[in-house]
Amino acid sequence: MTEETLKRWKGRHLLRISDLTADEIMGLINTAQRFKEVSEREIKKLPTLRGRTVVNLFFEPSTRTRTSFEIAGKRLSADVINISVQQSSVTKGETFKDTVLNIASMKPDALVIRHSSPGAAKYASTIAGCPVINGGDGAHAHPTQALLDLMTMAERKQGFGNLNVSIIGDILHSRVARSNIAALKMFNANVTVCAPPTLLPHGVESMGVEVTHDMEEAVATADVVMMLRIQTERMAQGLFPTLREYAAHFCLTERLMKKAKKDVIVMHPGPINRGVEIASDVADGPYSVILNQVTHGVAMRMAVLYLLCGGAES
Ligand code: CP
Repeated sequence: MTEETLKRWKGRHLLRISDLTADEIMGLINTAQRFKEVSEREIKKLPTLRGRTVVNLFFEPSTRTRTSFEIAGKRLSADVINISVQQSSVTKGETFKDTVLNIASMKPDALVIRHSSPGAAKYASTIAGCPVINGGDGAHAHPTQALLDLMTMAERKQGFGNLNVSIIGDILHSRVARSNIAALKMFNANVTVCAPPTLLPHGVESMGVEVTHDMEEAVATADVVMMLRIQTERMAQGLFPTLREYAAHFCLTERLMKKAKKDVIVMHPGPINRGVEIASDVADGPYSVILNQVTHGVAMRMAVLYLLCGGAES
């Protein structure tokens, strides 16, 4: 990484995929691939962000994103502070603005924010005084998830151009789908979305994707099958009759995998609902790269923190 490149990254926010160019995404993937090796060492630590402070501010539950940002920061020697809303003064009525302003007053070097409201991270970026990384804002965006997903695809497939990616499940409520579509379209991948009509956003075709409601078609043509969770916590009633009926039509099963290409990979951002959108034998089976995605999450978040916080080369 040249001095010039590092200077271009330092102090920036990462709020959505369109904040990045295709070249910058490839730069992040290359940097993350180098950091992945650190996690294989006995001593998993670099001095890169020594003396820097990263705050994880999570207003929604998370296992993968929060933990991987924490591990990423610590592997780069940053001090990492985790704040979850249940333990914060938000429970006493403090506003989002005041929470961010108070944390900003303690001079962190990066703030990772997850919130149920689209735009929360963008708003925080206007008052935080340090780089803000969107760890997921409602159904809007989850840029680091898309970046780690692209890293996983890049490792298994020859480039993104002409790659057929089928994204299947609750597209309507999915920030992961929106961020992946935005990223994949930058590289001219062919993206198909598959869901019941009630779980597709209005005008989804304008995102440059093909639409099908037929699981067999979505699976048979795909190089990458990306399954999504039904987000009951964001869902109005009546979008489908029951989870059982949803699973009968849209669960990725071994039977469906028999129609897939031999070198297909199956992805899922997690958390997975076994037996709803994905059968256990598929989630745990030979095509699944779900846990590789989680491993790449640490490496990609190391790359993001390193670049935005202006870490020293090591
Ligand atoms: N993929 C993802 O965002 O998982 P978490 O909700 O556990 O962070």
